[in-house]
Amino acid sequence: MNTSKTKNNYQIAIVPGDGIGKEVMEATIFVLDSLGIDFDYVYGEAGDECLEKTGTALPKETLDIIRKADACLFGAAGETAADVIVKIRQEMKMFANLRPVKAYPNTNSLFDNIDFMIVRENTEGMYIADEEKYTDEGAVARRIITREAEERIIDYAFNYALKNNKSKVTAVHKANVLKKTDGLFKEIFYEVAEKYPDIATEDFYVDATAMYLITQPENFEVIVTTNLFGDILSDEGAGLVGGLGLIPSANIGEDGALFEPVHGSAPDIAGEGKANPIAMMLSSIMMLRYIGEDEAADKFDAAILKVLNDGNVLTGDLGGSATTMELAQAVKNNL
Ligand code: NAI
Ligand code: MG
Repeated sequence: MNTSKTKNNYQIAIVPGDGIGKEVMEATIFVLDSLGIDFDYVYGEAGDECLEKTGTALPKETLDIIRKADACLFGAAGETAADVIVKIRQEMKMFANLRPVKAYPNTNSLFDNIDFMIVRENTEGMYIADEEKYTDEGAVARRIITREAEERIIDYAFNYALKNNKSKVTAVHKANVLKKTDGLFKEIFYEVAEKYPDIATEDFYVDATAMYLITQPENFEVIVTTNLFGDILSDEGAGLVGGLGLIPSANIGEDGALFEPVHGSAPDIAGEGKANPIAMMLSSIMMLRYIGEDEAADKFDAAILKVLNDGNVLTGDLGGSATTMELAQAVKNNL
C-alpha cells in the first residue's frame, strides 16, 4: 500500500486480546506462516483479561511493541475495547481508518458486484472527547475540521486510489448545511484532486450517499469522508456485504499501522472454535499490502475466495459447521 521497498523480514506486533480475538488470531497466523515470508511476531497483551491480570487494559509495554513493529495485528478486546483501541489509535496518531466493503460469494452480501473502500478521517470532526460538554441548557459538541488533517486524509484517499487501480474518489459531506466545516472539506477535496488528474472525482451529500449505497453500490470505488459520517457509512457498508465475520479494517498513521477485524470478542461463542477467522485474515491481507507484500496478499485472498466459492468448509455464521481451525486449514490448502 505505501511501503515501496520490500524486505524479507518483518517485525509484527500481535495483540490477540480477548475471546474470539485469540482464536481468529491463531487461525490467521497459521496461514500467514505458510506464505514464505519471514515474520518476527512480538506478542503484546491488552484487553479485559490483561486488565484483570495486570491492572491495566493497555500496558505501556504493549504500546512500545506496537510502536517498534513494522505493523500490528489486533484481534478484539472485550468491555475494555474503547480504552484499548481508541487509545492505541490516539497514541500512534492513526489518522486514517480504512474499511473495505467487498462482496464475497456464499455470504449474506446483498449484491454481487460491490468492491469499494471507505477512507475515514480518524482524529477530528465530531469525535473529540474534550469538545463535548454539558452546558446549562443541555450539552454541546464542537465539530473540528482542520486544513491539515483533512488534506492528509484526502491525499491518502487519492494516493490509495492511484496505487490500487481505482479510477474515482467520492467525497461525502453535508456542505449544504454545514457550510463552513464541510464547505472547507469540499474545497480541500477539489484542491487536492488537482494533484491527481487521472483520478475522477465526485462529491455527494451524506444523506444521499446513505441511499446510493443501497441503490447503486457498484458505482463507488473510494469514498473519503469525515469521522462521524465515515463511522456510520462503514457500518452501512458492513451490512451491505453481510456479516461481521467478514469485515476487516486498518488504522494507518505516520508512526505505525494496526489491522483488526471490525467485530468484537463475541463472548457468546468464545472458546467454542466457532468464530469465523476471515475478517481477521482479510485484515492481515491489508497488512501484507501495507508492508508491500502484494503477491502474498493476492495469494492469500485468492485462497479465501476459493474456500468461499467451494462452500464446503464454512463456519456457522456463513451457514456451515466448520470450526475456526478447519476453515484456516482449508484456506492453507488452497494457497
Ligand atoms: P461482537 O462483534 O463481539 O459480536 C456481535 C455478534 O456477532 C455476536 O453474536 C457474535 O457471536 C457475532 N460475531 C462477531 N464476530 C464473529 C465472527 N468472527 N464469527 C462468527 N460470529 C461473529 O460485538 P458485541 O457482542 O457487541 O460485543 C462483544 C464484546 O466485544 C463487547 O465487550 C465489546 O465491547 C467488544 N467489542 C470490541 C471491539 C474491538 O475490540 N474492536 C469492537 C466491537 C465490540
Ligand atoms: Mg462504528
